[in-house]
Amino acid sequence: MNKVKRIGILTGGGDCPGINAVIRAVAKKAILQYGWEVIGIEDGYDGLIRDRHRKLSSNDISGILAVGGTILGASKISNPYRYAIEEGSAVVFKDVSKQAIKNFSKLEIDALVCIGGDGTLGIAHKLFRDGVPLVGVPKTIDNDLKGTDITFGFDSAVAIATEAIDRIHTTAQSHHRIMIIEVMGNRAGWIALYAGVAAKVRDRRKRGKRFSIVVISEGAKPKGGEVMVKRIVEKCADPMRLGGVGFILGEGLERISGIETRTVVLGHLQRGGPPTATDRILATRLGAEAVEMIVRGELGRMTAVQNGRVTTASLEEAASGPRLVPLDHPLIAAARALGTSFGDE
Ligand code: F6P
Repeated sequence: MNKVKRIGILTGGGDCPGINAVIRAVAKKAILQYGWEVIGIEDGYDGLIRDRHRKLSSNDISGILAVGGTILGASKISNPYRYAIEEGSAVVFKDVSKQAIKNFSKLEIDALVCIGGDGTLGIAHKLFRDGVPLVGVPKTIDNDLKGTDITFGFDSAVAIATEAIDRIHTTAQSHHRIMIIEVMGNRAGWIALYAGVAAKVRDRRKRGKRFSIVVISEGAKPKGGEVMVKRIVEKCADPMRLGGVGFILGEGLERISGIETRTVVLGHLQRGGPPTATDRILATRLGAEAVEMIVRGELGRMTAVQNGRVTTASLEEAASGPRLVPLDHPLIAAARALGTSFGDE
């Protein structure tokens, strides 16, 4: 792209470890290698809608590699195409995209880097079609975005869940209990698959193991049933929040097995704190690639990892629904071979 002078960065949707590492990579490369100015849009698309932003200097991005969350703030409820506005006691949704695009134009930004999950990238796709020059960087602890084999944040969430499972293990063992650990992951079960070890509890008993650990994804459904909805966030374009299926499973297992059972919901712990080394590296590579996409003029797409290589993919694909764990995933076969039960046999 010719004559880029100023770029913007925005972080939308839920936070996750590694976002600051992307902000750092994008801004450092832009400032140091290309001499561009970098504007941070505050609180995701809310900053575009409400015209809130600040210039990011080298000082602002120094020391943030290991810091969780996002220094720019994020928002899950600020979709410019469906913006929730309170009118008396009612919430009405309005299309304020023209306002957001007008605010964007005032900033004289040559390209905007949108860091986010399917919601944020879906909105980015619409904004691009409406004339906003941008590139995307996929993020989510859920690892459920189409178009990329892996998202940063996932490795950190798995590490946190794994540590939690290790800790639960010792107390399960002491008390001869079944311990259920409900992990995040939305409708996809990637975190549960990678962090979890579910065991057939009665078989284990017979073999002299007096405790069991069961990991369940918040989006798991009972056979023939539906996902457990914890709450509806009315103002959010994606309003359903999952949670609680671990308690249902716990009650059922206790009834069937007669073994005392407890359920632990890990929740937002999995999104907090510093990124793992793997996520720092991935986030840095993707941030650097986002800048190169701008240099090449490859706009309207996102960075991606496919077959271990950093590449680009379409934003439309990322927003086209969750990438679920395929039933023939090699890790499932490997875990089954070691005696792990997935509850289906
Ligand atoms: O998409 C990330 C995620 O943490 C999901 O795993 C979870 O279902 C959801 O966000 C929780 O959303 P909130 O932060 O709105 O409670």
